[in-house]
Amino acid sequence: DASDIEKGTYPHFMLKEIDEQPAVIRKIVQEYRHEKEGIKLDKDIRQAMLDTDRVYIIAAGTSYHAGLVGKQLIENLAKVPVEVHVASEFSYNMPLLSEKPLFIFISQSGETADSRSVLVQIKEMGYPALTITNVPGSTLSREADYTLHLHAGPEIAVASTKAYTAQIAVLAILAVDTAKAKGIDLDFDPLQELAIVSSAIEALCDQKDEIEAVVSKYLETTRNCFFIGRGIDYFVGQEGALKLKEISYIQAEGFAGGELKHGTIALIEEGTPVIALATQKNVNYSIRANVQEVVARGANACIISMEGLNEENDAFVVPAVHELLTPLVSVVPLQLIAYYAALHRDCDVDKPRNLAKSVTVE
Ligand code: G6P
Repeated sequence: DASDIEKGTYPHFMLKEIDEQPAVIRKIVQEYRHEKEGIKLDKDIRQAMLDTDRVYIIAAGTSYHAGLVGKQLIENLAKVPVEVHVASEFSYNMPLLSEKPLFIFISQSGETADSRSVLVQIKEMGYPALTITNVPGSTLSREADYTLHLHAGPEIAVASTKAYTAQIAVLAILAVDTAKAKGIDLDFDPLQELAIVSSAIEALCDQKDEIEAVVSKYLETTRNCFFIGRGIDYFVGQEGALKLKEISYIQAEGFAGGELKHGTIALIEEGTPVIALATQKNVNYSIRANVQEVVARGANACIISMEGLNEENDAFVVPAVHELLTPLVSVVPLQLIAYYAALHRDCDVDKPRNLAKSVTVE
């Protein structure tokens, strides 16, 4: 069977694709490197980013979660306002558009019907579109004005892993390129920072036993699990929850740490697992305060922190990287947590029930 050959020695595509992430990041660095200018990027895309007064990111599922991080990158580095929209909701809740919108479609497959229908709609309105995809010949790529390629190689597992990290890496490069083109002085070489990220992910991929132990300790028998974070960690928590529910069928939700007290905390019982992300210096104190609140109600709290911000008893510590690029690193233990949780429950890791890799119906 052809799929067995492609999997090589791996039991599942998902695990193989998680392990491929360092190489994918290195490939992106190589593809987007320019000897003299630093970043190599299509000059029409650079111009489109300079011409727009507001970027509208459209995506679904994991690609939407990458878009949430992309907004932070583009706004923080390039100082261009960004809105992120779930593709299936865009036409019902269409925002008031700015004068010179630029639409960015993020899609691993380039075939998601919900995203395509927004593309058709905005092209009819005459607006420019850029697609960020893993499949350059795909529908969303062909029908948009510009394409940025993820260079992640085929992603087979339904649960997206390496495409997510590739999307964030490419969005970071786009954000820095725009900043440079606008003459914004950044103390930040994205390609160098991404090389550090690649090594950090490699180190995490060598710690699978420790992650599996986290699953045994926190998730073995639970029916639900909460992820909390603040700032950029909140978005990564949403992605961690999506991974977990997709393949292990554990009911999982990602929440903003500060929102807990406005409702969700009512669900905390003795033993409820709460996975908290702590990779951001400015919110380290407050996310840990949220952890204390849930622990006081009996939660089984699992803190995943970053080197330099870690404290005694944190369940897992990821290597330090640039604070805007932490999602690339902190998502890896969450991907592996989902993987081992599914494995321990005898779930079909690569082909979860009711889900499709690429959803070509609206
Ligand atoms: C499906 C897949 C998800 C994916 C989403 C968007 O629901 O199961 O893993 O994130 O579609 O797909 P796209 O190819 O547009 O990124």
